[in-house]
Amino acid sequence: MSSLATFDAFAVGKAIHDESNFQWCVTRQPAGELSPDDFEWRERPIPEPGPGEVLLKTHYLGLAPVMRMYMQGTGAAGEAVLRPGDVIHGRGVAQIIRSRHPDWREGEMVQGQIGWQTYKVSAMTAAEKMFRVPKQGLPALYACKTLGMTGLSAHAGLFACGEPRRGDKFVLSGAAGGVGSIVSQLAANVAGCEVIGIAGGAEKCSIILEQGCSAAIDYKSDVLAQRLAELCPQGIDCYFDNVGGQTLSTVLENLALRARIVLCGSISEYTLEQPFALSNYTRLRNKDARMQGFFVYNHIARWESVMDELASWILEGKLIPKNDVTRGFERMPKALARMYAGLNRGAAICDVRGEPESWS
Ligand SMILES: NC(=O)c1ccc[n+]([C@@H]2O[C@H](COP(=O)([O-])OP(=O)(O)OC[C@H]3O[C@@H](n4cnc5c(N)ncnc54)[C@H](OP(=O)(O)O)[C@@H]3O)[C@@H](O)[C@H]2O)c1
Repeated sequence: MSSLATFDAFAVGKAIHDESNFQWCVTRQPAGELSPDDFEWRERPIPEPGPGEVLLKTHYLGLAPVMRMYMQGTGAAGEAVLRPGDVIHGRGVAQIIRSRHPDWREGEMVQGQIGWQTYKVSAMTAAEKMFRVPKQGLPALYACKTLGMTGLSAHAGLFACGEPRRGDKFVLSGAAGGVGSIVSQLAANVAGCEVIGIAGGAEKCSIILEQGCSAAIDYKSDVLAQRLAELCPQGIDCYFDNVGGQTLSTVLENLALRARIVLCGSISEYTLEQPFALSNYTRLRNKDARMQGFFVYNHIARWESVMDELASWILEGKLIPKNDVTRGFERMPKALARMYAGLNRGAAICDVRGEPESWS
């Protein structure tokens, strides 16, 4: 049985209902490919909110590569380190169904750190980074990713770090994914760059040509160095890196003067025991180039202005949210494994209960 098929078998017989809180917990540190044995399904009573707390009912949960690192107990990325038995961290969209908190009302939709569970009692602490989902005529689903941390990551990496200029040769890896599908559209439709996307496989390469990219490179079958030299004969002005490793190293060999490299993620290294040893970073020197990392939580102060801007671009048609939706909370582990298998097209989301009937 393929490893993803084992997740299908694992989901059989598991289903949520509204009389209990269902949770996914980590059982051990994953090694190599994710396996069902890394996850435990739990049913618990729905918790009661105390004074100053609210009860949240989960509608959508986002999936992110960093969740495997949470499970490993390494790279907690701003969240508490997980131990076996803990509910896995994850941001999502939920409705407040009871409130004993003076600042939050029943019926409001919020997005924030909910964890892999179908209900949560929350004191709405700063650490949970909870935000109201405004009613803008857009589905609550969008708040899970495009109008959430994924959108903020794309925006911060692109504009605050990449400083794109009209006509730039702009290359990005992970172009068909959650962050990538936003960055490619904004780089092309807002910043006016010529966008070259790198993705795995012919199907993804044809998808990215419809979301901002004017050329696509299939890193699984093309010779990356050769294609970059053909497409960027004067060098790359801006590179948005989602994968790290050999792809980053190859890009460093073809930079234009004053090139900017944005270090967003390095998924090709997340399952390695030792990180990739980048040895050619000195290529930055003779091109007056720079390489800059960013962490999305360091950009939270700009949340409202960035969300307003992203929403306006959606309404103007410059940004079309691309979501890869897995239906059913019982399929969360598989949805995470699919990301590492490169199967998600767009932002990976688990639809736990769909859209709310109404929200205030
Ligand atoms: N800096 C920050 O604050 C921040 C915030 C959010 C996300 N991130 C990072 O941004 C990146 C994208 O995140 P996302 O949530 O949008 O994920 P995503 O791109 O939607 O999904 C992950 C994708 O990575 C690719 N991939 C998987 N294994 C790979 C490998 N060994 N080599 C190359 N590519 C591989 C797959 O696409 P292919 O089929 O094309 O290989 C897969 O679909 C991740 O590295 C993530 O950690 C950083």
